[in-house]
Amino acid sequence: MAILAPSILSADFADLGNDIRKTIKGGADYIHVDVMDGIFVPSISFGMPVMKSIRKVTDMYFDVHLMIDDPARYINEFKEAGADGLTIHAEACDDVAGTLKKIKDAGMDPSLSIKPGTPVSDITEYLDMVKMILIMSVEPGFGGQKLIPETIDKVRELRKIIDTGYPDVLIEIDGGINLENVRDIVDAGVDVVVAGSAVFKNDVEANTAAFKKIMQD
Ligand code: DX5
Ligand code: ZN
Repeated sequence: MAILAPSILSADFADLGNDIRKTIKGGADYIHVDVMDGIFVPSISFGMPVMKSIRKVTDMYFDVHLMIDDPARYINEFKEAGADGLTIHAEACDDVAGTLKKIKDAGMDPSLSIKPGTPVSDITEYLDMVKMILIMSVEPGFGGQKLIPETIDKVRELRKIIDTGYPDVLIEIDGGINLENVRDIVDAGVDVVVAGSAVFKNDVEANTAAFKKIMQD
């Protein structure tokens, strides 16, 4: 079954620990942690102190999505804050291979993301270095946007490449995923689904469980 990674960007920050517990009760697999620096993307979200606090709430896998410029600067700090995996943006660093290697050497899973306008061909040379490729299905920076349909073609393209030579690499998608479109997304070949605003509204536990039910094989 595909993996569900609720994005806490849309959680209630005044009650973050409880919101995370609700997703765990509902069957979440990872916690998706969006870090934004106000430079690579227009918004600023949160950083290491918040991660350290939520690390005390759960030993769940922290899938940390770094929307920050030159992420190599902070790799050890994110490890100390409790990250299990770090996803960097191909557009945000000059030395992608070197940064992925640093993440691995620090004891975390390295993953690589591309924005909607960046072609899959830009990242295929790194497939033997990553746990996941994160296909952004919206422009990174904000929760609650509408999925850009053309990005699903990139999922299909990447699925074919992965199936021919990189069976361990997972495809993750992030942005605009909801209960109405998630089945099609999984059928297109996605392994890891990130969902923010569709999880953290009304009954968080029930929303999480509803996603998992639809995502069943
Ligand atoms: C956007 C973030 C996403 C965001 C997804 O830049 O990377 O993880 O929280 O939110 P929704 O699911 O609301 O599009
Ligand atoms: Zn994200």
